[in-house]
Amino acid sequence: MKKALILFISMILFAGLLAGCGTSEDNKTNEKEDDKVLVMATSADYPPFEYIETGKSDEIIGFDVDIAKAIASKLGYEVQVKDMDFGGLVQSLKSGQADFVLAGMTPTEKRKKNVDFSDIYYTAQHMIISKNDSGIEKLEDLEGKTVGVQLGSIQEGKAQEINEKVAIKIENRNRIPELIQEMKAGRFDAAIIEDTVAKGYFENEKDLRGFTISDDPEEAGSAIAFPKNSELTEKFNKELQAMKENGELQELVVKWFGGEE
Ligand code: ARG
Repeated sequence: MKKALILFISMILFAGLLAGCGTSEDNKTNEKEDDKVLVMATSADYPPFEYIETGKSDEIIGFDVDIAKAIASKLGYEVQVKDMDFGGLVQSLKSGQADFVLAGMTPTEKRKKNVDFSDIYYTAQHMIISKNDSGIEKLEDLEGKTVGVQLGSIQEGKAQEINEKVAIKIENRNRIPELIQEMKAGRFDAAIIEDTVAKGYFENEKDLRGFTISDDPEEAGSAIAFPKNSELTEKFNKELQAMKENGELQELVVKWFGGEE
């Protein structure tokens, strides 16, 4: 008799537990679908910042993706990554297609007219890369050469600046791998790419090399971009600051760029 009673009570409790679980789960999923997902736009042609490891999966991974996920999860959001050409990123914020951009993007004065930026989270330099046998060792050697840059990048501006001193022919492409291909095919003599990204390519492309052109390290640095007056800017910036202070950002630097910095 006693046993039966205990069994009966446990069954009621168990059923209640299940029902309870069900409701709270449902609420959670609904919430997520409504407003707990932030859309991050990026140009996934930029290892180790953002890229797809072809052959392994079609997921976009990298330093920027990890930063986005870390900050968003602290703020209670999930991240959905949207891939597009670099030249379309600022517009994606203006048109409300994305909540933020993490794409190794430099906070230039020109861009600041259209979007807001967080603080800089990583610094870099410009690198001139060419084939080993190109004979291009310094800026002056670019005289009369065809130089490739990514469309809409600050490297495009850098090329124009160089062109004021040494006459070059500037060509642009939407994607970084296209610049590498054009160089390998001999259609471009050189390309201007951020040093950290260029170094990644040297590992597989043994016939390429490069030299940095000395600049202020912040000049090519990266920051997170937001639509003008977004509420997220300050929230993200606070978390970014915390990650700088508690070493989390440094851990990600080591994970994606190797030990040195
Ligand atoms: N830092 C440079 C810029 O802001 C290049 C960034 C390119 N990023 C990319 N995901 N392809 O213009």
